[in-house]
Amino acid sequence: MNKKWFAGVVVGLLLIIFGVSAINMNRRGMFFNPRNDNSETRNDNGNDDDSPGTKRMLPIPKLLEDVNPDERVSDYYLNVQEGETSFIGDIMTPTLGYNGSYLGPVIRLTRGQEVNMHVKNALTEDTSVHWHGLEVEGTQDGGPHQVIPSGNLWEPSFTVNQPASTLWFHPHVIGTTATQVYYGLAGLILIDDEVSLSLNIPDEYGVNDIPLIIQDRSFAEDGSFIYFDNMMDGALGTHIMVNGAVEPHLDVEQVKMRFRIVNGANARNFDLKLSDGKTFHQIASDGGFLEAPVESTAMLLSPGERGEIIIDFGGYSEGDTVELKSNDKLVMTFTVGGEKEDTTEIPEKLAVVEKYDEADASSIRTIEMDGMGHMVTLNGEKFDMHRIDDYVTLGETEIWEITSDNAMMMSSTGHPFHIHGTQFQILTRDGREPPLNEQGWKDTVFVSLGETVRIIVKFHYRGVFMYHCHILEHEEAGMMGQLEVN
Ligand code: C2O
Ligand code: CU
Ligand code: CU
Repeated sequence: MNKKWFAGVVVGLLLIIFGVSAINMNRRGMFFNPRNDNSETRNDNGNDDDSPGTKRMLPIPKLLEDVNPDERVSDYYLNVQEGETSFIGDIMTPTLGYNGSYLGPVIRLTRGQEVNMHVKNALTEDTSVHWHGLEVEGTQDGGPHQVIPSGNLWEPSFTVNQPASTLWFHPHVIGTTATQVYYGLAGLILIDDEVSLSLNIPDEYGVNDIPLIIQDRSFAEDGSFIYFDNMMDGALGTHIMVNGAVEPHLDVEQVKMRFRIVNGANARNFDLKLSDGKTFHQIASDGGFLEAPVESTAMLLSPGERGEIIIDFGGYSEGDTVELKSNDKLVMTFTVGGEKEDTTEIPEKLAVVEKYDEADASSIRTIEMDGMGHMVTLNGEKFDMHRIDDYVTLGETEIWEITSDNAMMMSSTGHPFHIHGTQFQILTRDGREPPLNEQGWKDTVFVSLGETVRIIVKFHYRGVFMYHCHILEHEEAGMMGQLEVN
């Protein structure tokens, strides 16, 4: 007992020391020049009224243009840049973005398409661009091994070979992933395939098919972001933002609307509900469609996870407002407009998710995530770029048993566990079948404290891939490992 008490005091002292140094780090703050007055990178995000506190219109990220006229091959250009964005009143906040001042464009791809990416790092520090959820060779993955030094160009190529899904991209450099994401570096990848193109679901981008990148941010009085790593669960913000606008609103007609929701926060879970308690249908998880829509009143997304839902506004009347909330915090508001013909449907069957067979598994790995704040470990160790933690055989079926433990007496409430370069399936949560909305393709799974989650996974591409907690502060603090597929 005494020992435990002593350990508690030591942990407490360490927390205070690290906590104070973290505040200082944040005060140092800007790692780029905040007065970059290039008007092209200024952006009034959804600012339809200048008075502070007025709810802004939801910004819809632009689709990135494919500059290659060849149908099967495409070339996309991303510029990683500094800028300024107005989130509150007309105060400008120094931010980072892809081809703009905050967040990035949507890269829309079709299964079978050959893609050449051209990524220019116009920042004054290193970055990388990781395609979260995309199945590609390790060298094209954009993880910490594919650093793009300041001023350099990175040109990965890949062929899209996975089901229709909503994926995303963000930096993945050692030491600055968390701050670069916080300042605005994140964008979406939408994949279409035969299934998505044949379903009669809402699919008109920006009209009835809307992406929602949900994040939380804190602001200083001068409008700059406060990046405060709170030493418990990572950097949490006081304001919820969607697509780069604080608590925005969206006008909708009385039709079915599809939302592709990404938890793009550094550390916060979002437990999404409608304010009137009505149900919606979840149609997709991280890596694609569920077999059938799952009707529900809530959807929990931990950092890195995606979920697609259809809300039927056909049941509302003109002038109604309904809010999207997360644990009683406002996320955004929908204002319902007039009636309109709606030819879309919520089909009974969406796709076939071919289930991996446990009997085929050749090995079982265990992953133990432990600790909180900066005192986190994965399998008892901190990340080392020069150490390969696991060797995996291409195409073999494996079971991974992931736990979130408490050996240090204090711990986060759980960890979103993510694997690069593949999509997996959840077998069980604490021995029980996972909920229906977790029975599709996943690349990130929330493992709450004390829980054991068993997943089944195969790797289809060679190379080195990361696996880690997607609380970005935990990842940075070393809750990450790497595997090599041969
Ligand atoms: Cu969003 Cu290592 O990933
Ligand atoms: Cu990833
Ligand atoms: Cu974690």
